[in-house]
Amino acid sequence: MNVRLFRPSVGEEELANIRAAFERSWIGLGPNVGEFETRWSEFIGCRSSIGLNSATAALHLALALFNFPEGKKVLVPALTFVSSATAALYNRLEPVFVDCNPETLGLDLDDLERKYSDDCVAIVPVHLAGHPVEMDRLMDFARAKGLKVVEDCAHTAGGAYKGRKLGTWGDIGCFSFEEKKCMTTGDGGMLCSDDEELVHPARAMRWIGIDKDTWKRNAAYTDATLNARHWYYEVALLGYKYNMNDLAAGIGLAQLQKLPTFNEQRLSAIKRYLDGMSELRHITPLLPYDLSGESTYHVFGARCEQRDELMVFLKERGIATGLHYMPLTLHPLFSPWVSDVPQAMDVYDRIMTLPLFSAITNDEVDYVISALREFDANM
Ligand SMILES: Cc1ncc(COP(=O)(O)O)c(C=O)c1O
Repeated sequence: MNVRLFRPSVGEEELANIRAAFERSWIGLGPNVGEFETRWSEFIGCRSSIGLNSATAALHLALALFNFPEGKKVLVPALTFVSSATAALYNRLEPVFVDCNPETLGLDLDDLERKYSDDCVAIVPVHLAGHPVEMDRLMDFARAKGLKVVEDCAHTAGGAYKGRKLGTWGDIGCFSFEEKKCMTTGDGGMLCSDDEELVHPARAMRWIGIDKDTWKRNAAYTDATLNARHWYYEVALLGYKYNMNDLAAGIGLAQLQKLPTFNEQRLSAIKRYLDGMSELRHITPLLPYDLSGESTYHVFGARCEQRDELMVFLKERGIATGLHYMPLTLHPLFSPWVSDVPQAMDVYDRIMTLPLFSAITNDEVDYVISALREFDANM
């Protein structure tokens, strides 16, 4: 048996939406994007959502919206994907790497408070694997210090913490619809906020700085008066080509309908893993997974002292594994900003990611569990 690490679930509903966009012959930034933004805002419970081509773009624009002075500092986790920190570099800001909580692998809030200095302007908490950062305590600290908060929600879609949706605790939430995530648009991202005025410029910034998209200009084209000036646009701010397109949004509209089911399916696979692993002596679950249904997880994983040997053992049996993540302080790009992150360095040697996706079968999960049991028994 071969078990993939991640696998998107796409089908006829997504194809029907792509076909409709083809038939309309409008496949760039258009009505599907607007519709998906509205549905996403309803789903997350926020006032404004802006469809982009990735969460990397969303994180870049989110920090850009605050116009922080060059050289200011952004508190980011050491244990995350590079995009959480490159968002600071894109904006000529400096990342300050914060250690992880050894159990949840999210931000260690004690270290966050230690690493804070007067030059800090923002925090980028990452709900790693989908497990929530303690947002109540983090927001209290951020507000007391006047820090802006951009939640990196790339690993969660619909999860909540203390009854409030992730992505709505901070000033801005950034989601990813890359192919491996909780739901996908192929590639895609969403920037969300309750502060419509704050995020409004991101509509132009995703579209090379142009204040009207071509779909709206196309609508004005039918207004046959001298004043319609359908061709007119102004560029007042530096923009990028970061927009979502109607093919991606069409996929997203279909995926959003399925997302609650996807989230339940992944959670039930996690429960099956946890049951199957409960007797193991040397291999433990990656996280204190919350099974209440409030959290939505993207990553299931394990910890093991002989992690590298276990990965090879699983590979020989056709089971894909991964590692989320090597601490960012080990990447040459971030060498000017290295800081002490002993907990992230410590867990890095032991963590690994196991197969998890919405369509994973019980047989696949049981196959992985039996391989884990065999390895554990011989350790
Ligand atoms: C924590 C985190 N943030 C941001 C991103 C970037 O997402 P995207 O691929 O949509 O740019 C990822 C992607 O894996 C991620 O894992």
